[in-house]
Order: sequence, then structure tokens, then C-alpha cells
Amino acid sequence: MNDTVSFGLEDVSPEEKTSRVGAVFSSVAKRYDIMNDAMSGGMHRLWKDRFVRRLKPREGEEILDMAGGTGDIAFRLADRGAIVTVSDINQDMLDVGLERAVKRGLDGLVWSRQDAEVLTFGDKSFDAYTIAFGIRNVGHVDRALSEAFRVLRRGGRFFCLEFSTTEWPGFKEAYDVYSDKVIPKLGSAIAGDEASYRYLVESIRRFPKMHEFEALIRTAGFTNTKVEPILGGAVAIHSGWKV
Ligand SMILES: C[S@@+](CC[C@H](N)C(=O)[O-])C[C@H]1O[C@@H](n2cnc3c(N)ncnc32)[C@H](O)[C@@H]1O
Repeated sequence: MNDTVSFGLEDVSPEEKTSRVGAVFSSVAKRYDIMNDAMSGGMHRLWKDRFVRRLKPREGEEILDMAGGTGDIAFRLADRGAIVTVSDINQDMLDVGLERAVKRGLDGLVWSRQDAEVLTFGDKSFDAYTIAFGIRNVGHVDRALSEAFRVLRRGGRFFCLEFSTTEWPGFKEAYDVYSDKVIPKLGSAIAGDEASYRYLVESIRRFPKMHEFEALIRTAGFTNTKVEPILGGAVAIHSGWKV
């Protein structure tokens, strides 16, 4: 195969990756939020809070939350007065998000099914673009980054929250054992789907290291790029500006 990308430990065509990632998220959509709390001991909430604080959303700004899934980032942005479009390739994830938004009385969000690689939005449509735990699931990361650049206005900012590789000795070994032994079992017990959570672990391992990913963001055209490691890099916030 000429053009292959990683799906967990396998190398597959980008089209096959998109379809298999689709199956993963359709399978876990209803238990997705509970699983996030179980796997991270609730810490994902703190990472998401920190991510949104770093972005500093302003009242009335137009923000695209890509791979927005069940809305965790979008709700935080909307709480700060931003005008938010939540996009995801998977309708099952968006449906759970919509239900949650209704329960919270948040009716001002736009929900739009989109593939991060080929957005239907016009050039220069948004002030900021966020993507949390989404980019490693995309077939062509470079295409998603250049679409992010295209839809941002001049002065727009790109913010990405993603798992990465921790560089803390000691913690790294414990984290590896936890990822291999505990996460798939939690997936099986809580979401009834061990394979999807094995994919999650493997996709994290195969995603580019923090500085390699930062270089990809620069290649897409962003400047003033930064990376902020959390837990030694187990999670990282990458950012860049379109000037
Ligand atoms: C781990 S979830 C993250 C959801 C949410 N951002 C959060 O932080 O809870 C990853 C999301 O990426 C979405 N996704 C995967 N490939 C995508 C693509 N090519 N375009 C848009 N969304 C995609 C999945 O459907 C899924 O909802």
C-alpha cells in the first residue's frame, strides 16, 4: 500500500482508518463520558478546563470545536460567551452531545457533521479552532491542519489538546502498565467494548511526539507555536497563530 496510516497497531489506508474510527466512536458514544471519568479518575475535566483557560475565549468570538464529540469543550466555550460550532464526523457522538446540551439549556450551539480533513466552511470563518483528543483519530493529520488554517481568520488561534508521550521516568512505566492492563478492562466492563479501548491506547502510542507534532502545525502555516506538557507530556496542549 502506498498511502497508509496507523489504526492502532495496524497500517491501513486512510479511508479504512476513517471507517474503523467511525465504528469505534459509534460503539462507545453512549458510554463515552462515563468512560472518560473512569479512565482518567475525572482528570480529563481539569485538562479541558486548563485548555479552555489557555485559549482565553472572548464574548462573541466565533469558535469551531472540531471533533467535538459529546460537547465537553464546546460547553466550556459557550459558558464564556463564545459563539460555538461543534463539528464531528460521527453523528452518534453529536447526538449524545445534543442531548446533553438540551439538558443544560444550551440552545445557542451549532452542531454540524463534518470531516476535519474536508470542511465545508468558507475561508476565514472563525476566530479560533479547537480540537481535543480528536486529531490522532484523523486519517491525514496534515490535511486537517491545513483545513484548520484555511477556516481561521487572520489573528486566529489553533488549540489542540491531545494525549502524547510522558517523559517522566517512573511515571512512564506505570502509565504503560495502566494503559495496557487497566484501560482495555475498563472498556470491557463499562462500555462493553475492550477492542475500542485497545485502539485508544495504541493510537496514543503511534501519534507523533510533542515536538514532531508541533513541527506539523508549523508546516500547516501556523506561527508562534507552543506546546505545554501536562503530566510530563502524557497530555499536551499545542497552540499556534494564523498571522
Ligand atoms: C476522543 S473523542 C473526543 C471528543 C471531545 N472532543 C472530547 O474531548 O471529549 C474523538 C472524536 O474525534 C472524532 N473524529 C474522528 N475522526 C474525525 C474526523 N476525520 N473529522 C472529525 N471528527 C473526527 C470522533 O468521531 C470522536 O467524536
